[in-house]
Amino acid sequence: MAVKQAIADRPTAAEVMQDAAVIPVIVLQDPAHAVPLARALVAGGIRMLEVTLRTPVALACIEAIAKEVPEAVIGAGTVRSASDAQAAALAGARFAVSPGYTRAVGKACHDLGLALLPGVATGSEIMMAQEDGYTALKFFPAMQAGGPAMLKAWHGPFNDVRFCPTGGVTLQNAREFLALPNVACVGGSWLTPADALAAQDWARVTRLAGEAAALPRK
Ligand code: 3PG
Repeated sequence: MAVKQAIADRPTAAEVMQDAAVIPVIVLQDPAHAVPLARALVAGGIRMLEVTLRTPVALACIEAIAKEVPEAVIGAGTVRSASDAQAAALAGARFAVSPGYTRAVGKACHDLGLALLPGVATGSEIMMAQEDGYTALKFFPAMQAGGPAMLKAWHGPFNDVRFCPTGGVTLQNAREFLALPNVACVGGSWLTPADALAAQDWARVTRLAGEAAALPRK
């Protein structure tokens, strides 16, 4: 694995998207899985980790990873409100990802000094996020909302925006996204399958992360 540069305590959204070809979207049901899972992903070459705020244990998992896996850069996903952003930052999250964009979430992350990858699926949403200073965006749900063809169309009017398509992305279709000039990385849950977590099969997670980290990109 290539030696990676040290990352600032609070990376920028561009740094979060540039670090590896894939940002794993992680849903944790058991806090005991958080630290070994994060270590398994880092061992495979992926250190930007998005733990979604979708389960009651998510904040505890973020806190555990922040404290015990310093090689990882832990972020919070599914941030839908200012209070989600505040709770995530308090737990130790170093970046945030949202499934959509609101001014309240954008302002909260800005005030907290937390990089945000806002989710967008339309031109108007891109324009609103851009007005608030966000130019590194998550395209969600990527496959359902138009896939690579949508990103090709957006490259005309929004050629100063970089995207992280997420939603329906797989190891197979990731290549097509990553070949696009306006795609910095992709996001996806395929690196952390629920059955691998339930079986605590960390070697499988490391293997999946290694495959993802080796994906070619522009
Ligand atoms: C999500 O927020 O659920 C992500 O987009 C993950 O989608 P996926 O499970 O299709 O990778």
